Amino acid sequence: MMKILISFYSRTGTTRKVAEVMKNALIEKDVEVKIEEIIDKKNRDGKIGYIIAGKNALMKKKTKIEEVSYHPENFDILIIGTPVWAGNITPAIRTYLEKYKDEIDLAVFFCTHGGGGESNTFNNMREIIGEPLKVLSLKDKKIEEGKHLNDIFNFIDDIL
Ligand SMILES: Cc1cc2nc3c(=O)[nH]c(=O)nc-3n(C[C@H](O)[C@H](O)[C@H](O)COP(=O)(O)O)c2cc1C
Repeated sequence: MMKILISFYSRTGTTRKVAEVMKNALIEKDVEVKIEEIIDKKNRDGKIGYIIAGKNALMKKKTKIEEVSYHPENFDILIIGTPVWAGNITPAIRTYLEKYKDEIDLAVFFCTHGGGGESNTFNNMREIIGEPLKVLSLKDKKIEEGKHLNDIFNFIDDIL
């Protein structure tokens, strides 16, 4: 049976929603799936948190993350998700990918954004772990309005 790990970071829950829909879609397809929320130990709340977050992402900074429950080496595919911050991946996902890059064989990327598109996000990921099988970029509004389900189902069909 195929084993897939979905690892994601989410500051305000939008990326988490996408990860959860993916998880349920994979369960429907009889895939063994685990989901891991990457937790940034740095407080990203509030206006100041937002400004520093954007700055850190733009500067390609790493951060401290909580211990993970699953290791990518134990899975056939890693699905990795992040919000777009200042056109880049989040420090938490950068830190995660740098830490586990040697364990990652096949990966799929997704991001959520506020309208600016993926920008450099997928290229940031490529620089660390190489070319993905597939990518998906979703606008936050579309997710809030619940119009993201078909995009996700098609995406899952494409990678299986
Ligand atoms: C610090 C920060 C910077 C952001 N920069 C961008 C950006 O450059 N382009 C964009 O389209 N959206 C940007 N956004 C919007 C988020 O990518 C978008 O709302 C995302 O869906 C939030 O995901 P989350 O709820 O999982 O944290 C930014 C949000 C934050 C907090």
